[in-house]
Amino acid sequence: MKKFLTLATLMIVATSLFAACAGGNSNQVTGLSGGDGVTIGVSMPTQDLQRWNQDGQNLQRLLIERGFEVNLQFGGNDVPTQVAQLENMIASGADVLVVAAIDGDSLTEVLGQAESAGIPVIAYDRLIMNTSAVTYYATFDNFLVGVLQGEFLRDALDLPNQPGPFNIEFFTGDPGDNNINFFFPGAMSVLQPFLDDGTLVSPSGQTAITEVATIGWSTENAQTRMENLIALNNLTPGGTPLHAVLASNDSTANGVTNALITAGFTPENFPIITGQDADIVSVRNMIAGTQAMSVFKDTRVLAENVADMVAQIVNGETVTINNTTDYDNGVFVVPTYLSVPIVATIDNYRELLIDGGYYTEEEIGAN
Ligand code: GAL
Repeated sequence: MKKFLTLATLMIVATSLFAACAGGNSNQVTGLSGGDGVTIGVSMPTQDLQRWNQDGQNLQRLLIERGFEVNLQFGGNDVPTQVAQLENMIASGADVLVVAAIDGDSLTEVLGQAESAGIPVIAYDRLIMNTSAVTYYATFDNFLVGVLQGEFLRDALDLPNQPGPFNIEFFTGDPGDNNINFFFPGAMSVLQPFLDDGTLVSPSGQTAITEVATIGWSTENAQTRMENLIALNNLTPGGTPLHAVLASNDSTANGVTNALITAGFTPENFPIITGQDADIVSVRNMIAGTQAMSVFKDTRVLAENVADMVAQIVNGETVTINNTTDYDNGVFVVPTYLSVPIVATIDNYRELLIDGGYYTEEEIGAN
C-alpha cells in the first residue's frame, strides 16, 4: 500500500485538527485507506525481559485480528540489530512501523528513511528522540509510575510523621531509555523533600539519575551495583540498616533482591523495594516478602491502544490521543495516548493479575 500521505502532510492535518479540537484529545489523519496486504512492522527491544515478549505477542495478535500482516522483530537489546531490522522493514514495504526503541537517541537516521518513504511511525512505550519521523506515541503515564513508587515508599515508611533517618538507595534504568527521565523524577518529586530534610538518607550518596542508572535495565548490572553498595557501607542485617530501595522496574528490583538475599536479608527484615511491570518473578517475590510493590502496566491495554491507532491511521480515521503537552522528543511535542498504571501489592495481586486474566495461578505458583 503506497497511499500514505507524507509526514509533512500528516503534521499539517494534525496541527489544524489540534487547533480545531477544543479538548485537544483527538487527531485526524485523512486520505489513507486500508485493505488487503497492509503490513505493520513491529520492532521490540529484546526478548530478555518478560514484558516485551508479551507486548510483541499481544500486538501481533491484535493486528492480525484487525486484518493486517505483521512483521515482528526483537532487537536483542543491540542497537545495530534494531536499526538493521527497521531498515529491512522499510525496504520490504512496511506500511506502518511500531517501534519500542532500545536507545531512543539512535534511530534518527533509520527513521529518516521511513519518513522519506512516507511511513507513519508509532513510538511504543518509549519515546523516540530527535526525529520528526515519529507520528504518534503510546505509553503509560511514565511520570505517574514514578510518583506511585515514591508515594508507596513515603507511606510505607510514614515519612511525614517519622523522624527517621531511614536509609535508602536508588536504582533506575538504561540511560538511553527516555522513560527514566519520567520514572525517576516522578519518584523524586515525592522523595526529594525527605532527602532534603534528612528523614531519608542515601548511605552511598548516589542520588543523581546518572549515578543510579542501570545499563540495559539488566538484573545482573543492578545486582552488581547493589553488591557494591552493600560492601561500601556494610548494609547487612547486623550492620548499617537499609530501610528501602527505590527500583524503577522489576528487572532492576530483582537484581537488588538477589544481592540482599546473598547478604543475609530475610523476608522478616527485608528493605521495602519498589518495582514496575508486575513480572512473574516479582509477583513471586511479593508473595515471598522480598519485594513490596510493583507498578502494573497492562501490556494488553497498551497493545490494544496501539492496534487501534494503527487501524485509525490506515483507515484515515481520527487517531485517539489524550496528551499533547508532555512528550517533547527534542524536535516536537509528539501526540500521545497515555494509559494509567496501577499499584500491585500482596493485597491486590490476586484480583488484579489472576482474576484479571493476566496470569494463571499456575504461572505465579510455578517455580
Ligand atoms: C521501560 C519500560 C518498563 C520496563 C523497562 C525495561 O522502558 O517502560 O516497563 O520494562 O523499560 O525493559
